[in-house]
Amino acid sequence: MRKGKITALGLALAFLFLFLPAAALAGGNAADGKKVVDTKKLGNCAACHVVPGMEFPGDVGPNLVEAMKNYSEKDRTMLRERIFDERKFNPDTIMPPFGTNKILTSQQIDDVVEYLLSFNNKK
Ligand code: HEC
Repeated sequence: MRKGKITALGLALAFLFLFLPAAALAGGNAADGKKVVDTKKLGNCAACHVVPGMEFPGDVGPNLVEAMKNYSEKDRTMLRERIFDERKFNPDTIMPPFGTNKILTSQQIDDVVEYLLSFNNKK
């Protein structure tokens, strides 16, 4: 009886230590995403898109503040795919395939997605 309880506790602890860090690492950080979007050597998204707080944005791509009004949590996967490689949606796009060409890491793309999805939560 006692031994069974200890085993159960051990298993619960092992579960916590093994799976919690993985869960905490999944998903993105919006503040980090903003840096990626605004940094010329990383996303440089303002070269083509209107994004918050960036002066003199380009206009070859859609205004992302406006475009994000059509996106919600359920579009997270699709949004991620677009940033990973927009050619999946438009083979002739001029948007760089940030994931396929390793311009951004997988984590940086998650961060960018988190940042873009946060536009809708702003008052
Ligand atoms: C060289 C120009 C260019 C750059 C740089 C660029 N994009 Fe784009 N992006 C486009 C164009 C053009 C489109 C329009 C759709 C297409 O071409 O397929 C687009 C479309 C999008 C869309 C879909 C918008 C919609 O209307 O649904 C998202 C989201 C997006 N870009 C995000 C980003 C992010 C985030 C970055 C920076 C990490 C970025 N783009 C960098 C050109 C660019």
